[in-house]
Amino acid sequence: MQQYQVKDIALAEQGRKNIEWAESRMSALLAIRERFVKEQPFKGLRIGLALHITKETAVLVETLKAGGGSVAIASCNPLSTQDDVAAALAKEGIAVHGKKGESVEEYYEYIRAVIATNPHLTVDDGCDLVSEIHKNHPKLIPSIIGGTEETTTGVIRLRAMAEEGSLKYPVVAVNDNRTKHLVDNYYGTGQSALDGILRATNILFAGKSVVVVGYGECGKGVAQRSRGLGANVLVTEIDAFRALQAVLDGFRVLPIADAVKEGDVFITVTGNKHVIRKEHFGQMRDGAVLVNAGHFDVEIDLASLKSLAKKQRQMRPSLEEYTLASGKRLYVGGEGRLINLAAAEGHPSEVMSFSFCGQALALEFLAKQRGKLSPGVIVLSQEVDDAIAELQLRALGVRKDTLTAEQRKYLSGWQEGT
Ligand code: ADE
Repeated sequence: MQQYQVKDIALAEQGRKNIEWAESRMSALLAIRERFVKEQPFKGLRIGLALHITKETAVLVETLKAGGGSVAIASCNPLSTQDDVAAALAKEGIAVHGKKGESVEEYYEYIRAVIATNPHLTVDDGCDLVSEIHKNHPKLIPSIIGGTEETTTGVIRLRAMAEEGSLKYPVVAVNDNRTKHLVDNYYGTGQSALDGILRATNILFAGKSVVVVGYGECGKGVAQRSRGLGANVLVTEIDAFRALQAVLDGFRVLPIADAVKEGDVFITVTGNKHVIRKEHFGQMRDGAVLVNAGHFDVEIDLASLKSLAKKQRQMRPSLEEYTLASGKRLYVGGEGRLINLAAAEGHPSEVMSFSFCGQALALEFLAKQRGKLSPGVIVLSQEVDDAIAELQLRALGVRKDTLTAEQRKYLSGWQEGT
């Protein structure tokens, strides 16, 4: 097996600069790295990752390596690999497997290359690594200490596995850290999804009708940032409480069947399948832009759009034009895959520092608890989450207050009232 599979090793020098740039914004993760160098929590352990191969992920990978781990990584999305970063990692001797634009066959070949290293710890973003191990390599499971999962979609899949008794090792839902889903999903997706749309299209947001499909943490971030750029934001939602939140946040909430007639830009962030589908395309405005910011490329029913289109052409990088029989043109960004990583660089480094502090500490937790945890989905304690927030505040140079002894006593008592 080849040690690495990257697009072009000659890109390594630019990749190294990009990794350094990311490091300069990720000092909380670097503080953890410094401790790992001394404590070597991963000494003798093999760590297999399926994450977006970005400059921020490289900082995580090098942190795990600094902690004594032997690391192999595959991409968790065919369009998200930053080829220069992959080359830089390969040059450092990391077993890295990923190329921007890889085929689905190559995608699974690369995941299998990671599995072939027989990892003790797995790190997933979307659950494809865990799922592939359980489906096709169950013999490896007894030597696996545990895994971590980065994203909402992956955690949903893991909980479904646990529910039917199929999940055979413990997996930490890093996504469920407050310092992950309330930061990465909200501020991260909010900014990076728009970054992707702007790089793919360079359209003006001000005055446009932007339909945000789904009002979870990602949808909330995308809606806020779109409003910040002057768009009229419409929200569609299936959950009553979230729909209410959107209304109270000042957005118009309406069914997708109505929204399709009004939107100039559609951004799907639901984690669900075919939220924009066959019956919707014909009703859209000429020139409408459709993008997905959810983990998988299932949210926009592209197969139906292709079947309806009489012509299809690549307009510019990350933007395809579909002309319907009526002559109406619809534009799809990033082939319906995660627009922030397909057309831009994903979340900013500052945001990924939060998420990857969570990954690093979750892996350390698993290594320390080796043999003591049962199969299932685990959420880290509030103390770990608080420690990440503390590290990040320190990195930002922000000082917060602490409780006085009197306040602590007041909060833990019940006697004092009116
Ligand atoms: N997910 C979203 N943005 C990312 C990034 N910059 N690196 C890795 N994973 C991501």
